[in-house]
Amino acid sequence: MSVEQNGEEAPASYFIGKKEDVMKAKRVSKFINGRDVLVIYYEGKFYAMDAYCYHAGGLLENGDIEEFNYKLCIVCPSHKYKITLAEGEGLYQASDPEEKPPIPRWYSKGIKQRVHTVLDVGGDIYVKMSDVRKSIGSDYYQTEKQRQERQKCPEISAAAADDDEGEC
Ligand code: FES
Repeated sequence: MSVEQNGEEAPASYFIGKKEDVMKAKRVSKFINGRDVLVIYYEGKFYAMDAYCYHAGGLLENGDIEEFNYKLCIVCPSHKYKITLAEGEGLYQASDPEEKPPIPRWYSKGIKQRVHTVLDVGGDIYVKMSDVRKSIGSDYYQTEKQRQERQKCPEISAAAADDDEGEC
């Protein structure tokens, strides 16, 4: 599905599945338009984002969903980075050691994970691919080179889980 808007072609949309099937599955991963995309159904809403974490390419599919700083996030299983479902924002917690006592606060790293738009068209779920032109962190893991690396070593994203140097 692709629609002309003001002479420019709108970002393409891709069929994911019947709404009831996606709701039942809760998470659906699909390779669409050259990207691995994860569609999530959580508490009555659909979300879509690049399937591999911006930090080191961990597979987000099995990440827990939790609320941090009043935002729903997927927690990458590899190093526990928190990524907001709606915006793809990287959140982290830190405290100022000068502050007595130090109080942990949430901060944003900005948009790190590319998110896509989910459309419900008469009970069919489509994903409209992000048309943000600037590079976003998770783009790195969507290249053909990275895809080939994963095919050579299917455990590559799980291997990131053994590297516990990441920040949490
Ligand atoms: S790969 Fe996701 S937190 Fe490191």
